[in-house]
Amino acid sequence: MVSYKDLGLSNTKEMFAKAIEGKYAIPAFNFNNLEQMQAIVAAAVETKSPVILQVSSGARKYANQTLLRYLAQGAVEYAKELGCAVPIALHLDHGDSFELCKSCIDSGFSSVMIDGSHYSFEENIELTKKVVEYAHAHGVTVEGELGVLAGVEDEVSSEHHTYTQPEEVEEFVKRTGVDSLAISIGTSHGANKFTPEQCTRNEQGILIPPPLRFDILEEIEKRIPGFPIVLHGASSVPQDQVAKINQYGGKMKDAVGIPEEQLRKAATSAVCKINIDSDGRIAMTAAVREVFATKPEEFDPRKYLGPARDNLKEIYKAKIKNVLGSADRA
Ligand code: G3H
Ligand code: 13P
Ligand code: ZN
Repeated sequence: MVSYKDLGLSNTKEMFAKAIEGKYAIPAFNFNNLEQMQAIVAAAVETKSPVILQVSSGARKYANQTLLRYLAQGAVEYAKELGCAVPIALHLDHGDSFELCKSCIDSGFSSVMIDGSHYSFEENIELTKKVVEYAHAHGVTVEGELGVLAGVEDEVSSEHHTYTQPEEVEEFVKRTGVDSLAISIGTSHGANKFTPEQCTRNEQGILIPPPLRFDILEEIEKRIPGFPIVLHGASSVPQDQVAKINQYGGKMKDAVGIPEEQLRKAATSAVCKINIDSDGRIAMTAAVREVFATKPEEFDPRKYLGPARDNLKEIYKAKIKNVLGSADRA
């Protein structure tokens, strides 16, 4: 049994309280390897932003849970070495069972998500409450979810949004004791968040997605004022990066994300955690493809993973400064 406190990690309680007060959001970036961890920590240090290192169960299977925990522990030391001990949380993304959440808590995670959004309201409450009881006994914070995002949620996929029903949030938060709540207001996982039919096209032929449902967010905020809200599926799918991928042999068709101005607006509300994974995947892939296409003689992984890491860091720094608003808040 390892406590996150002994690893120098932080839970999300203070991070979220400050984020709501300061009208910004904490970046939650997914990782499953060394280069992603380096890019995330360097971006957070260079912008002086608190950060959440996020691990999905798929990432855990891919990289090995013990190694990931040691990488997170290393992240804390790495931040100090880079010159700024920014607060770092290690968070389980889309936990789907009590056992998985418990295993993460026991191995040094400081925060877990229990995603019971695919269950009935009562089953979701029961499962979430059970996780909260165990987590809080260990000082670990818990994110619950109400409403279902369209797209792929880890191994579960859903074709349509089921927007969060504002009438349910107060009871859910009260009965479960969760520390934050992920909601569904029109974001969606992955790089193809909307079909072309759901979008309009501007004069340049670029797909413009339907706007987020800020009316639902406002209604939720009225019912649970000051309570930390989380946005999943918040990648913007930068079109210059997608174009680079396609220019160098990739095939990303009709990839479209959430416009950054809408995320900026959300970050000034009770939304205090914004999850970004796909944009990081896109940034790394664009850089790797460019090296493969322009320097076909290279075969040293450092020569393509290095540029991928640099590109990832730059994209994350820009997000922290221009979208999340969390720069200089560490
Ligand atoms: O919400 C899903 C995250 O992007 C994690 O994706 O399960 O492929 O690691 P993954
Ligand atoms: P994106 O696919 O939009 O990056 O969302 C990631 C996410 O919500 C992780 O939980
Ligand atoms: Zn998610």
